Amino acid sequence: MTVQPNKTQRTKRVFIKTFGCQMNVYDSEKMAHLLESEDYQIISDMEDADVILLNTCSIREKPEHKIYSILGRLKVLKDQNPNLILGVGGCVAQQEGERLLEQSPQVDLVFGTQRIGALPSLLNAVAEQRARVCDVEMSADECLDGDVRSVLPESVSSYVSVIRGCNNFCSYCVVPYVRGREHSRPESEIVREVEHLAGRGVKEIVLLGQNVNSYGNDCGITNGFPRLLTALNEVAGLKRIRFITSHPKDLSDQLIRCFAELDKLCEHIHLPVQSGSDTILKLMNRGYTREDYLEKVHALRSTCPGIGITSDVIVGFPRETHDDFQETLSLMETVRFDDLFSFQYSDRPKTAATQFDGKIPSEVKGERLKVLQAVQMEHSLAKNRALLGTTEEILVEGVSKKDARRVTGKTRTHKTVNFMGGEELRGKLVAVRIKEVNAHVLYGEH
Ligand code: SAH
Ligand code: SF4
Ligand code: F3S
Repeated sequence: MTVQPNKTQRTKRVFIKTFGCQMNVYDSEKMAHLLESEDYQIISDMEDADVILLNTCSIREKPEHKIYSILGRLKVLKDQNPNLILGVGGCVAQQEGERLLEQSPQVDLVFGTQRIGALPSLLNAVAEQRARVCDVEMSADECLDGDVRSVLPESVSSYVSVIRGCNNFCSYCVVPYVRGREHSRPESEIVREVEHLAGRGVKEIVLLGQNVNSYGNDCGITNGFPRLLTALNEVAGLKRIRFITSHPKDLSDQLIRCFAELDKLCEHIHLPVQSGSDTILKLMNRGYTREDYLEKVHALRSTCPGIGITSDVIVGFPRETHDDFQETLSLMETVRFDDLFSFQYSDRPKTAATQFDGKIPSEVKGERLKVLQAVQMEHSLAKNRALLGTTEEILVEGVSKKDARRVTGKTRTHKTVNFMGGEELRGKLVAVRIKEVNAHVLYGEH
């Protein structure tokens, strides 16, 4: 594409750096789309930017600290180029608000998780008035989910937000404070967005929400999520549907049945358990017991044998004893997850658990994490080994970044498979025979 020379002079170059979950990735895409339609150009080299935006995450201490260390480095860039505009959005921005402006003089703009729609006018205010601006208003939802995005024609898979916010208030979690209450998008709007994406060549959609099972509840709709999936299953050209994340307490029989009934819905569920101990689950305010969780797993596997089940676990939650931790290991032994994301508990602002006594020393948390990850490694490897010699349907995402002779894609159960092939396979469903595996990746041939 050629750009008019006079336009190049006017265009402001924006670099966006994204941290955190898929919702933030999706939000950054929205920001890019919105700014591109307002005479900004999105660039991939930070050094050339007129505007740098950080879309931040505060789920644990570590990602939050990362933001402050990056802000430190950006101060140098700002000192060299005082015209550079530095904006901070996302969950740390929402959490810290004005404090960010006070503590970080290099920051020009702080914008909240529900102010993405206002981003162009906020940037204008900063540029024209040379003012420092903070807008973390939460009442006006201007996330622009209703807007149909322009996507790159070559993207095979695309995120689609279906519900924002969370009402669950798990005692350790910052999300309800930084993302607000649950808010579902109308079904018709989601279907339109997915039709648009499929029309532009997208083969797979990943529906996003902190708890997709609550979809429709805020509008008084029952079984909203299974109904949405059923509608999306009809979209022409679309090959695969996935979703994240499901809360175990709200996983309904209707949703479980969708795995057997909807041909486009992939056989994978991310179902975060967090702990295998009833005492800890109660302290976490998760709303289910170990037994409830195991029953859901049983129901999923009876309805959909071979379904991939992945999960999240927090180790070292306040008052977690050695025995509680053993309960988590024993639950892992019973379920045998395909993959597991595990984290050391960390205190988050405003959350109930921050006030709990019985905090676990950092060395103990580290030790528990190591033990748990070693167990999971064995389970992942065993699960992958069981696929040796089988033929799997792979949706090819593109050429592997690590090896240009190979392409990479996923099984329906969400396992990564690499095999010999080129760019022409991108977006194709290919039958691949699994020849070699490790705990993280499968290798095959077609
Ligand atoms: N909505 C999802 C979770 C989103 S946050 C759900 O309910 O399952 C992703 C994961 O981060 C959580 O599942 C949890 O395992 C982890 N996490 C959240 N808060 C944490 C904290 N304070 N300390 C450590 N891990 C945390
Ligand atoms: Fe956080 Fe719990 Fe909501 Fe998930 S369900 S986002 S862990 S409060
Ligand atoms: Fe992080 Fe916010 Fe997502 S805290 S995990 S970016 S909702």
